[in-house]
Amino acid sequence: MTMAMRPGAAASPPPPAGGAPMPMMPMTPAARSMRLAGEHFAAALFYLLAGAIGLVWIAPELALGAYPSPHVAGVTHFFTLGWLTTTIFGALYQLLPVALGAPVRSTRLGHASFWTFAPGAGLFATGVAANSLALHHAGIALVATGIVLGVSNVGATLPRARSRDVTWAAVAMAITFLASTLVLGVILLHNLHTGFIAAARLRVLATHLHVAIVGWALVMIVGVSHRLLPMFLLSHGADTRWTRRALTLLPAGVVALAIGLNTRWGVVSWLGAVLLEGGVACFLYQAYAFHRVRVRRRIDVGMRFAASALAFLAASAVLGPVVLAAGPARARLATAYVAIGLLGGIVLYVIGFFYKIVPLLAWTARYRDRMGKGPVPTVAETFSARVATAQLALMAPAVAFLAAGIGSGSAIVAQCGAALFLAGVLLFISQIARVALGRRS
Ligand code: HEM
Repeated sequence: MTMAMRPGAAASPPPPAGGAPMPMMPMTPAARSMRLAGEHFAAALFYLLAGAIGLVWIAPELALGAYPSPHVAGVTHFFTLGWLTTTIFGALYQLLPVALGAPVRSTRLGHASFWTFAPGAGLFATGVAANSLALHHAGIALVATGIVLGVSNVGATLPRARSRDVTWAAVAMAITFLASTLVLGVILLHNLHTGFIAAARLRVLATHLHVAIVGWALVMIVGVSHRLLPMFLLSHGADTRWTRRALTLLPAGVVALAIGLNTRWGVVSWLGAVLLEGGVACFLYQAYAFHRVRVRRRIDVGMRFAASALAFLAASAVLGPVVLAAGPARARLATAYVAIGLLGGIVLYVIGFFYKIVPLLAWTARYRDRMGKGPVPTVAETFSARVATAQLALMAPAVAFLAAGIGSGSAIVAQCGAALFLAGVLLFISQIARVALGRRS
């Protein structure tokens, strides 16, 4: 009966070599924002399921490399807005108070952001996939309102932070990229039914997806991992300077790539690609550095998800320059690059962190007041590590199959990959339902 993370059990680590001393995050979740985080996580799971079902539907189009298809764009946003963005906001409402000492500026605004953004993401994604003007107009109005409220709330929270370290800087940069993602997304959406940007569409699309996936999701992941990986792995004394390097190179790379692509200035696009490669390499090295000095030798399933995700992120980074050299005409290559980076690199990483954060929150909500009054399960006992391992055994090969199907142009292989992915998501939902309902493993 080992407990992965018993609240209050963390000791302060010694200052890491080569970096600023990194305060260990207190283990007690922020009670005020627990409901806020909970509603985000519930909606995010719903959209992960919608995305996984949609993936089976669009797999044949992916195998053709038909990435500009509205079906593909619609399903993509179940993952990117519905799952990723909703999870990130939910996690931020917990992280900001406990990691940066900055209580969320307004919990009410957080709920308002959620109740506009969450239904909006569904309407928007469905509207784009179904080519329905009414739905995607309603969706984008709600999504835009939700993002503006969420970004303003987080933006107004940041000045209250006790420490302004790399995590703080990452959150500030990431929300700026999210606001830019919205602007680019609105342009692309308007273009879908007017065609006003004509031949520039694919360049703006490439800009949008890099600003969104790297600038918003990856920069946030790098910043948050800087705090959470040492805690999850119990790592003491790692050289932490690699996070700062990653957070310098990645945003610079996104900006250079955006300028290069849209001015059609090849040298600047390549400069962007080099910076992005450097940023990903620094992040991977930072994760390795934490892993190397970990005290906890056993790697739990959440961290195994994160490790698999990092392998997919590396694979996508290898493909990046090849896609840039080949150009948009090599549509299957470009589709495989985004599918591996997004589903393998980002979605699986967030699932790994979800396994670490959500059971802890649920445990705290249920058992905080029962401590010392009788037996309580450990956090690790609130879900089954065996089922989670089976889930990883489905989802990691799923991404590989999907990529192989896209690469070889085989609809059936891509669909097999998508079906495995869906099976993994169903196991995941069963696990989180068990955590939420409080059944012991
Ligand atoms: C903020 C609100 C957003 C809006 C309004 C929006 C809008 C759009 C639109 C209209 C397209 C299709 C463009 C076309 O086919 O010409 C698109 C594509 C895409 N977006 Fe977004 N987006 C948003 C957020 C995001 C986020 C947060 C991410 C990632 C984290 C993301 C990732 C992508 C990707 C990967 C594609 C390419 C999908 C494909 O291949 O069809 N988007 N977006």
